[in-house]
Amino acid sequence: MQNFAGRVAVITGAGSGLGREFANEAARLGMKLVLADVDAHALEQATDALQAGGADVLAMVCDVRKAAHVEELADAAMIRFNGVHLLFNNAGVGTAGLVWEYTEADWDWVLGVNLWGVIHGVRVFTPLMLDAARRDPGYEGHIVNTASMAGLLVPPVMGPYTVSKHAVVALSETLYHDLRLVGTTVQASVLCPYFVPTEIAHSERHRPGELRRDAPPTPSQQAGQALLERAVASGKLSAADVARLTFDGIRRGDFYIYTHLEALQAVAQRMDAIVHSTPPADSYAATPQFTDALRAAVQGSVK
Ligand SMILES: NC(=O)c1ccc[n+]([C@@H]2O[C@H](COP(=O)([O-])OP(=O)(O)OC[C@H]3O[C@@H](n4cnc5c(N)ncnc54)[C@H](O)[C@@H]3O)[C@@H](O)[C@H]2O)c1
Repeated sequence: MQNFAGRVAVITGAGSGLGREFANEAARLGMKLVLADVDAHALEQATDALQAGGADVLAMVCDVRKAAHVEELADAAMIRFNGVHLLFNNAGVGTAGLVWEYTEADWDWVLGVNLWGVIHGVRVFTPLMLDAARRDPGYEGHIVNTASMAGLLVPPVMGPYTVSKHAVVALSETLYHDLRLVGTTVQASVLCPYFVPTEIAHSERHRPGELRRDAPPTPSQQAGQALLERAVASGKLSAADVARLTFDGIRRGDFYIYTHLEALQAVAQRMDAIVHSTPPADSYAATPQFTDALRAAVQGSVK
């Protein structure tokens, strides 16, 4: 995609972090915006700021776990702007703890937002974009799914998150192949950031009441949460940097969009272990203090 001005960008999770910066960058390029988030207050703040800067914004409270909400989002975007060119399936939440200690509600919530949110986005918006591409030879469309380096690496104590992000990578690769199969100008990318300072470590703020965790956090959940907060806060690239890199990747037509190239070494080590059937590689080999802190913290929780 090369031309952004006057085109329409749909962004889920637009109220905070990466989504908010995708919106800022899209507005800077003169795009019309459809902003979606489950957090009405954050959405309103983002909308007010973007409108004050002159952007044309449609904002909708939307829980991406719910098919009907994503369908309503697409309907509203078509009614208001009569087309969608750039879609960011970006909303996501994180949680931490030993893999057998997550409740069914934990899995339901994380997979609901991180995986089903992307499934709904792809299922609902891709046909609209394909239709636009068929009708207009000059149409440019691009879908960016936010995965994570956790879609390519398997660190400890992030089970549901890692499972969801691996699935988003697989879904995105399938989307890429299927788009090529039908022959269209619509393109796809998967964004795989490493740690970026955003509000992701405070995702519990958006957990729906019916999926609330009633029991107090286990030692592994406390240690994992502390590690997540530390790791996210330590990120050297800002969310705005990631947004700029993502738009650069879109312009180049990159499928895999990486923000922290140094993390790819751990991916190569993981793939090497898979191919050579050696034990899974340690994703935190470069930061052994992470694993040491976790091990020390969870000893008390291992029965
Ligand atoms: N920050 C990082 O270190 C990092 C690294 C890799 C990948 N990611 C991914 O980036 C994406 C954006 O996260 P972020 O870091 O900007 O976090 P963030 O918490 O700052 O923003 C996430 C946004 O998603 C929204 N959201 C949560 N549940 C939702 C739902 N059910 N429906 C709609 N919106 C919902 C939140 O309200 C929030 O505005 C996520 O998919 C995350 O997994 C983040």
